[in-house]
Amino acid sequence: MRSILLLIAALSPLNGYGMPESRMVRDQKIKSELLGLHFFHKGLGMHIAPDLIKFVEVAKKYSRSSGKDFGPLKHRYGITQNGVDPVGLFSIQYEGMNVGVLGCVACHSGKAAGQFIIGIGNKNIDVGRIGGDAFLGQKFWKTITPEVRKSEAYKRVEDSAISFTRELKDPKRGNLTQGLVPTSVIRKWFYRMANEPYPESMPRGAVKVPHLFGYGEKRKVGQFADAGGNGILPGWGIAVELAAGQTPENVREYAHRLEPLEAGLGDLLPPKYPFQINLERAARGKLAFEATCAGCHGRYERDAEGLPIYLPPKVIPWAKVKTDHDRLEQLDEHFLGLIRTSPLSDLIQQTQNQDSYAAPRLHAVWARFPYLHNGSIPSVSDLLKPAAERTRYFSLRDAGERERFDEDSLGLRVKGRHEVRGKPALHSREIYDTTLQGQSNQGHEFQTTLDASAKQDLIEYLKTL
Ligand code: HEC
Ligand code: HEC
Repeated sequence: MRSILLLIAALSPLNGYGMPESRMVRDQKIKSELLGLHFFHKGLGMHIAPDLIKFVEVAKKYSRSSGKDFGPLKHRYGITQNGVDPVGLFSIQYEGMNVGVLGCVACHSGKAAGQFIIGIGNKNIDVGRIGGDAFLGQKFWKTITPEVRKSEAYKRVEDSAISFTRELKDPKRGNLTQGLVPTSVIRKWFYRMANEPYPESMPRGAVKVPHLFGYGEKRKVGQFADAGGNGILPGWGIAVELAAGQTPENVREYAHRLEPLEAGLGDLLPPKYPFQINLERAARGKLAFEATCAGCHGRYERDAEGLPIYLPPKVIPWAKVKTDHDRLEQLDEHFLGLIRTSPLSDLIQQTQNQDSYAAPRLHAVWARFPYLHNGSIPSVSDLLKPAAERTRYFSLRDAGERERFDEDSLGLRVKGRHEVRGKPALHSREIYDTTLQGQSNQGHEFQTTLDASAKQDLIEYLKTL
């Protein structure tokens, strides 16, 4: 068995490290598991109404025959296409229906510099748009198809799809921009469980989808951007399922699958930087990094096989980093109390960390742009500028494609064909506007006064991580 797996790893095109080793085998295993992973259970979970999945079938057919990505799926909804197949969208057989189900990799994989990578966040996923369009489509479908054709099971699946998509499209709580996922949809679940109204003042708390490399160490410190989730327990991992209307009783039926999954996520390995690195600059950059950044972001060593050694990230009080505060708003005693008393309180708990952001470990940071928890900064060179001089508006169109990758600034290319010169007249979900609430590019003003050459050294070093 082991030798077969080793052989698979050795032959796999994802293997960028040369000789296969057991960490690489485990990496391949979790990647292939994640590609097919979803938690649709007994008709509930992240799904759309049965008939709507036909749209995806049309998209697949188009891609097969034309060899191209299906535009609407990619540009309107931010679904990645790897080859001809949309990533993380499944057609599941349930009680004689084909149900469209969203899997973990719809968000937890994506492209950077034209490469498909499992374990980085999808830079374009637009759950608000998916929700809005699916909601309308489902309502329309319901009115034009005679109820008699539908079974009880059909109605149940359709109703839960409609209420899930209604949540996602909420303009007051939902994401304003592609690539951001509102944590409000998760917070709402706890209010629902307590039969309390969701506070009007609760912000969107939108964040980009985080990388998962080194998650085995991160979960010990705390999950999410704020390190607020207790990752020793496996419950937060399926938080999105709760937001989609999954019941606590259903979750208990598959709870035994969660710990092995969480443990497996710790095996993911980061992709190597795919282009040239100036090693002389990188060596100088390493010294600068260790003197000025490592206090928060830690040091980076490799094991005998040349694979990264994962260490726990540090949690930094907000007052020290001063990036956008929206994600940390209103996580007060009352809300924490709702988490403590929820029906899944044995699986989902908080840490002691409050009003802080985790300083993320920087493995494969080259692929993780736009940067910060709210994805507000297109490149590392922008991050190394004072906030007032950073890019205010930038386009996310084709953000993961090769032409958008800028090797010099390390991140998203914002000049040239996709340049956005000023605030767009109409709100566009494809354009990141740092003047919107929750999307500010403030804070993290460290080493912004270095000269251009010293900044380039730092950037070259970051490419090696
Ligand atoms: C709609 C997009 C989306 C889907 C689908 C999704 N996630 Fe996430 N996930 C996120 C976002 C966004 C965060 C970060 C939330 C935050 O920081 O507040 C996250 C965070 C996580 C984390 C914590 C990472 C860390 O650094 O602390 C884990 C673990 C995780 N997700 C697992 C899963 C699993 C397992 C699934 C499939 C059941 C899944 N996710 C599906 C968007 C998604
Ligand atoms: C005082 C602690 C601290 C120092 C010093 C610091 N950082 Fe950070 N860094 C953070 C925190 C906290 C975050 C997350 C903030 C957020 O997401 O809002 C972060 C985020 C980042 C990110 C974004 C990662 C991602 O995936 O989006 C990069 C890149 C980064 N830092 C690089 C650097 C570099 C390079 C230096 C040195 C010049 C540095 N940092 C110095 C605390 C620090």
